[in-house]
Amino acid sequence: MRLLVIGGGGREHALAWKLKQSPRISKVFVAPGNAGTALEEGLENLPIITIQGLLEFAKNESIAFTVVGSEAFLAEGIVDIFRAAGLKIFGPTKQAARLETSKNYSKAFMYRHGIPTAAYATFSDPVKAHEFINHKNVPIVIKADGLAAGKGVVVAMTLTDAHLAIDAILVNRSMGSAGLKIVIEEFLEGEEVSFIVMIDGRHVLPLATSQDHKRLKDGDNGPNTGGMGAHSPAPVITLELHARIMCEVIQPVMSGMEQEGEHYTGFLYAGLMISKNGEIKVLEFNCRMGDPETQPIMLRLKSDLSVLIEHAIDEMLDKIDINWDCRVALGVVMATCGYPEMSRKGDIIHGLLDFTVTEKLKKDFYIFHAGTAIGGNNGQEIVTTGGRVLCVTALGDSVKTAQLRAYKITERIHFDGCQMRHDIGHLAID
Ligand code: AMP
Ligand code: GLY
Repeated sequence: MRLLVIGGGGREHALAWKLKQSPRISKVFVAPGNAGTALEEGLENLPIITIQGLLEFAKNESIAFTVVGSEAFLAEGIVDIFRAAGLKIFGPTKQAARLETSKNYSKAFMYRHGIPTAAYATFSDPVKAHEFINHKNVPIVIKADGLAAGKGVVVAMTLTDAHLAIDAILVNRSMGSAGLKIVIEEFLEGEEVSFIVMIDGRHVLPLATSQDHKRLKDGDNGPNTGGMGAHSPAPVITLELHARIMCEVIQPVMSGMEQEGEHYTGFLYAGLMISKNGEIKVLEFNCRMGDPETQPIMLRLKSDLSVLIEHAIDEMLDKIDINWDCRVALGVVMATCGYPEMSRKGDIIHGLLDFTVTEKLKKDFYIFHAGTAIGGNNGQEIVTTGGRVLCVTALGDSVKTAQLRAYKITERIHFDGCQMRHDIGHLAID
């Protein structure tokens, strides 16, 4: 079977890498992919970026099914278009993907269906937004309504910063059309976890739990990013909490969608805040796998991902079990100079191509690529293309061992201006 994965980030490298491990799969095409997917045996990058082009390719090349990694394509309705052409694809429809593509829709949906989330109000008029926050306490959270590649949220510690954020988004249009509206949200305290499931429209299969590290700097300081590292599992999610998340969050999304005439299919990512007293609140939904959570999750997955996704496409997720490596996986993101505000491009990455390790160690880590391409002066080097560049992911018997292994590997890789955190996994270790 030949498969197609859509996207070019770290999560797509991890998904394609895992899919290719199946003996049933002869090739996985990745559109557009990155240097990691270009160099991987059994994967092939496709320089196609339009839905129409991808549709033609999938038809002509007898692609068994397509997996959508990128939210931008979901927002454009790739699932609706592929299905209308009779092609198999795993992901939500354009309407269902509004859970991610519009914060305003997502909050209203949660309120309609009793899903716990922070109190909020939506504004398109900056004057009303300024007036509203004058009566509020800080911290307060300002979010652009639309897709903003992890840059649309400001956690304002002072009212001055909150006013500035309102003007930046609504007046100066810093987020373009993603900021035609803003959602202003109550600030939540607690521990953040990522809860990702597969949904086939009728059944849910939870994946291993994980924890992201959103802030740029050690100790959870600095600006929000797409995520600077992750580990799986998230020890804060006990069996009891797991059952409550399924019941308070995931099931109501499925039944709510059904009541509104939609069947949710695809990965569903709930970003959750767990308060000190165990209260669960949804921070956000993503309609795809998380990045960098996918990288440690895929390293732990023992089941055949292609079989899982086929079951999901055929509405048979209730007929399959999922198996995990019981060890911890931990991924450290190496990002470019200037990320997240202004990413630099074109730095040569040293230490990747001459990476040699023993066969035994090989099984226990993987370097997933994100913002990389093949280029440089001789056209044969690996260079950065901006944003998050690599996610060095390692397995270990404990969080500490996985952490030590991952950081040891990062020491062998260099590019100018590299930024990374040095404390990924700190909450789990504490
Ligand atoms: P979102 O894209 O909505 O998940 O927001 C990005 C990040 O901002 C989250 O992962 C949190 O770290 C932070 N955040 C978002 N909403 C809130 C909130 N209501 N209270 C506290 N932190 C938040
Ligand atoms: N790690 C958060 C995200 O994928 O949006």
